[in-house]
Amino acid sequence: MAATGSAVGLGNLWKFPYIAGENGGGAFVLVYLLCILMLGIPVMVAEVMLGRRGRQSPIRTMAALTREAGVGKFWNGIGWLGVVAGLLILSYYSVIAGWALAYIPDMTQGLFQGANAEQVKMRFDALRADRNGLIYYQSIFMLLTTGVVVFGVSRGLGVAVRLLMPLLFLILVALLVFAWQQGDFARGFEFMFHFNFEALTGESVLVALGHSFFTLSLGMGSIMAYGAYMPQQASIGKTVLMVGGLDTLVALMAGLAIFPIVFAHPGLEPSAGPELLFISLPIAFGNMVGGVLFGTVFFILVTIAAWTSAISLIEPGVAWLIENKGFNRFTANLLLALIAWVLGLGTVLSFNDWSEYTVFGFTFFDGMDFLTSRIMLPTTGLLIAVFVAWVMPRVLSKDELNGEGSVAYCLWFWMLRWVCPLGIALVLVYGLYDTFSS
Ligand code: TRP
Repeated sequence: MAATGSAVGLGNLWKFPYIAGENGGGAFVLVYLLCILMLGIPVMVAEVMLGRRGRQSPIRTMAALTREAGVGKFWNGIGWLGVVAGLLILSYYSVIAGWALAYIPDMTQGLFQGANAEQVKMRFDALRADRNGLIYYQSIFMLLTTGVVVFGVSRGLGVAVRLLMPLLFLILVALLVFAWQQGDFARGFEFMFHFNFEALTGESVLVALGHSFFTLSLGMGSIMAYGAYMPQQASIGKTVLMVGGLDTLVALMAGLAIFPIVFAHPGLEPSAGPELLFISLPIAFGNMVGGVLFGTVFFILVTIAAWTSAISLIEPGVAWLIENKGFNRFTANLLLALIAWVLGLGTVLSFNDWSEYTVFGFTFFDGMDFLTSRIMLPTTGLLIAVFVAWVMPRVLSKDELNGEGSVAYCLWFWMLRWVCPLGIALVLVYGLYDTFSS
C-alpha cells in the first residue's frame, strides 16, 4: 500500500496527460505502456528485492549488498544518485503540488462555476505570475511533507492510501462520465490510442522511458526503502504487478478524462504543457452537477496523492542521514526539506520572473525535470538492472524471489539481463542525441 501511495501521484494525474499531449498522443502512450511492461516492472521487482534483501536505508543496503557480492564501491553510487535525485524531484514536485493546494479554496468558493476555457486560463495565468503566492503554497506543502516524515513514515500512510485512493478513483470515474457526456470523447480517445508514429521522435521515446520510471517511483531508492519493510512471505512479483497495474490505470483514466474536455473547448490545446490538468478539469467541475463539492474533494485528493509520493522522495535521504551521520529524524528532515525548498524557488521563478531565461531551450523547471526524469532515473534503473542480473550472485535473487523452478523468475531474470540494460541504454543514447541535435 505504501508503494501504491508512492507511485500514484502527480506523475499520473498531472504529468502523464501533459507529456502525452506534448508528444502527440497515441504512439507516445503505446511506447510508455511498453516501457512500463518491459523495463519498469522488471526493474521494480529488482529494486524491491534489493530493499528486502538489505533491510536498511538504500545507501546502506547497497553498501551491504556490494560487500556481499564482493564488488567495488562503484555500485554504491546507486544509493547516492538516488538521494540526490529525490531532492531534485521534490524541489519541483512541491511547487506543482502547491498549484493543487491553491485550487482548493478556488473550488470551494465556486470560482469556476460556469467558467469557459478563457476564464480558467486567466485564473491559472494569475496564479503562475504570482511569485509570492506560489512560494506560499509550495511552503505549506513542504511543511505537510516534513510533518509526516518527522513522525515516522508508517503511521498515516496506511489510512491515506486505504481510504483516499478509492475515493480518488471514484472521482476519476465521475470525471470520465462527464467527459463521455459533455466532452468530445471520441476525439479524446482517438488522440490517446490512435498510433500515429510520425509524431514520435527519439526525444519523445526518452520522455516515455523517463516517465515510466518516474511514475513507478523507480531509480532513487523510494521503492527500495519500502521493500525493506516488506514481510518475507509476501510475493514481490504479485505486489509489483498490482502497483504497476493500478498506477497505469490511474494515469490512463486521467488522460481519458482530460482530453475529451480539451477537444470540446476551443482555446484549449492538448500540447498546453504543465498547466494542462489545471486548465481542463476546472471547466468540467464548473459545469457539472455538484461540481463545487467534487472539485474541492478532487484537488484535496490530488494534494494527498502528491503528499504520499513526496514522503517517499525525502525518506531515503532522511534514513541515510540518521543511520550514517548521527542526525535525529527532526534535523535530518529539516535540512533536506530546506535544500529542496530553496531549489524549488528556481522552479517558482521559472514560471514568472525567469521564464525568459533558458539554457538549451530549458527553463529552470524544464532543466530539473530533464536532469532527473530523463537522465538520473534511467541511469540508476540501468545500474540496478546490471547489478542484479550481472554482478550479484544469482542465488541471492533466486532465494529472495522464490525462483527455484519458476518460469516467471526465469523470464524476469532474462528480461533484466538483456532487455532492460540494452533497451534503457539505447533509448538514453538515442534520445539524448535527438534532444540536443534538434
Ligand atoms: N511516482 C510519483 C508520481 O508519479 C513520484 C515519485 C515518488 C517518484 N517517489 C519517486 C519519482 C521516486 C521518481 C522516483 O507522482
